[in-house]
Amino acid sequence: MINLGVNIDHIATVRNARGEDHPYPYLAAKNAIKYGANSITIHLREDRRHINVDDLRIISSNKKIPLNLEMAATKEMLKIALKFKPDYVCIVPEKRKEITTEGGLNLNKNKNKIKYIVNKLNFFNIRTSLFINPSIKDIKTAKHLGSKCVEIHTGKISNLVKKNKNFQKEFIKIKKCAKFAESLKLEVHAGHGLNYKTTKILKKITQITEYNIGHFIIGESIHYGLKNVIKTFKKILK
Ligand code: PXP
Repeated sequence: MINLGVNIDHIATVRNARGEDHPYPYLAAKNAIKYGANSITIHLREDRRHINVDDLRIISSNKKIPLNLEMAATKEMLKIALKFKPDYVCIVPEKRKEITTEGGLNLNKNKNKIKYIVNKLNFFNIRTSLFINPSIKDIKTAKHLGSKCVEIHTGKISNLVKKNKNFQKEFIKIKKCAKFAESLKLEVHAGHGLNYKTTKILKKITQITEYNIGHFIIGESIHYGLKNVIKTFKKILK
């Protein structure tokens, strides 16, 4: 089965634009699961620009919502993760000024820190994932660091497809990485910049068992409703 993770960060972005409490990320999380999403992703950023600790508290307290917390590899975030115990954690790079997560982790630079965090999370049975660029070297390193999954950054292929450019080279690269990761017994996920078209293309890579999609789902829901959008993605992933 291929799982769909719905990233609801941008429900919080809209809420925060007014500094009030509407729309409600928790309600969006509950509804997304009701409509067929397999998990909910939230990224608690250092600057709390969308999701905040209260969102994490309320969503993680509902055990019927499989929760994937995206977080930077910092001591503060590890402490928060161990306090709220989400089902899954995906470690992502984080830069203050970026609009969104621009690329995969620099595993070489942050090896010790990431290894420590992954080991702690594994110990508490929180499924671990590392957000990486499609690179064989990074997959080897991810395995070495003890991660159970890798999430392949699909930003590049998404941009190529959106601009109607040739994406074959990037597709083959992702496919090779997915196969290699599976051979190492790593679960393979994909995310970033995905829409219906790119998801259909990547679905041909059968090693990918989870897609984490945010901006497109929330944006498209404004026009067609969260239920319809999730149902369409589920059909694509069937
Ligand atoms: N996966 C990871 C690890 C991410 O950091 C993001 C962006 O927050 C996504 C998936 C979702 O990307 P998008 O919002 O472009 O669908």
